[in-house]
Amino acid sequence: MKLANNKATLSFSNGSPSVDMPVYSGSIGPDVIDIRKLYAQTGMFTYDPGFLSTAACQSAITFIDGDKGELLYRGYPIEQLAVNCDYMETCHLLLYGELPDAEGKAKFSRLVSMHTMVNEQMQFFLRGFRRDAHPMAIMTGLVGALSAFYHDSTDINNPQHREIAAIRLIAKMPTLVAMAYKYTQGQPYIYPRNNLSYAGNFLHMMFATPCEDYVVSPVLERAVDRIFTLHADHEQNASTSTVRLCGSSGTNPFAAIAAGVACLWGPAHGGANEACLNMLEDIQKMGGISKVGEFMEKVKDKNSGVKLMGFGHRVYKNYDPRAKLMQETCKEVLAELGLENDPLFKLAMALEKIALEDDYFVSRKLYPNVDFYSGIVQRAIGIPVPLFTAVFALARTVGWIAQLNEMIGDPEYKIGRPRQLFTGSTARNVLPLGQR
Ligand code: ACO
Repeated sequence: MKLANNKATLSFSNGSPSVDMPVYSGSIGPDVIDIRKLYAQTGMFTYDPGFLSTAACQSAITFIDGDKGELLYRGYPIEQLAVNCDYMETCHLLLYGELPDAEGKAKFSRLVSMHTMVNEQMQFFLRGFRRDAHPMAIMTGLVGALSAFYHDSTDINNPQHREIAAIRLIAKMPTLVAMAYKYTQGQPYIYPRNNLSYAGNFLHMMFATPCEDYVVSPVLERAVDRIFTLHADHEQNASTSTVRLCGSSGTNPFAAIAAGVACLWGPAHGGANEACLNMLEDIQKMGGISKVGEFMEKVKDKNSGVKLMGFGHRVYKNYDPRAKLMQETCKEVLAELGLENDPLFKLAMALEKIALEDDYFVSRKLYPNVDFYSGIVQRAIGIPVPLFTAVFALARTVGWIAQLNEMIGDPEYKIGRPRQLFTGSTARNVLPLGQR
């Protein structure tokens, strides 16, 4: 970051002296006012619940222009990456800053595939869960548990440890998600196959059984790869900020990523694809497309508490570029599987059309987000609804780890410690029990 030509001056109406603060410019996006010395100079904090106007770090990984509907990974538009690159190239880009050449890609893919197996003890750990446990409950536990297996890569201040932990996490997430699925089905775990692509191996571990092989369809493989690519990173969202805050204490990478998994689970974040599909299924049960108008009235009624899941985004105030790509993939997958007339897809299209024309959504700049279509794609492939968020976590792991490593390597990094505006009781005396 570099100093901008101007500075910000904060003045007070009570005659307290005004304060000058430096302004910094990034390469694109809004400038930031440096308030680091504000407390020392004024004895005041800033107040910004939900971080609506606060940049908590500098980052060179992902850039979003929410008004334009633009998403760049290391400067490359998501539309180009989704079409011209696969997930392994995207992972290389996010982790190391550059797209690999053919040799670099082969080396990186090989490195990842060398780490796809998990310790055999992991299955015994899994056995402690109920068979009907939510996959995200399982994933939160399993990812955190990795730190108990890799004592040689838990020192976050050691660059070699960070590198190998990154590769291990990227490599093992598909294995863990597939294990979580197989466990809930009561089926044996399927070991990874290193001759398959990252996405192909995931499909294989999910759907093969010891008695029947699974032939990976190139269309579905590409669709899964695209889901991974589109979800690989998304700037300083809730789960990424959680990973950074958690990691800022110096905890090991596996523990920090487990914190990200836990955060992602929420329906306002990664859980939205599951919530979106449940919503579509509920409308379908109510009567399908004929009930869309009625449902939309509920969404617009603030007292109903009903939201149009898969719509709206904290940053995008335009069409989420990932939603367009996912809609394309959705059409391809449904055609491949002969599901072109899938009622949920038709319902989703009808909802989208109404919402894009309705003043409630237009005036609030609410557009479909990536989750609006990713659930339909996953369901068509055969991925059960409760596993959707775990698939998202798998894909986002590279973004989390790239952001965590960037933070640890930043000389300005400090343990995160937000402040507060205290509104509770002032100091008071504890009365003996009999007098209260
Ligand atoms: N349905 C109906 N109304 C909505 C929706 C929605 N999906 N999203 C926002 N609004 C309304 C709000 O009620 C509010 O209305 P008001 O101004 O009359 O009070 C206005 O739009 C602004 O919404 P906020 O909640 O202030 O927007 P915020 O940026 O805080 O929320 C969020 C963003 C959480 C994503 C929200 O749009 C939402 O809950 N969407 C549904 C869940 C979802 O799809 N999440 C996925 C996010 S993408 C991801 O994690 C990959």
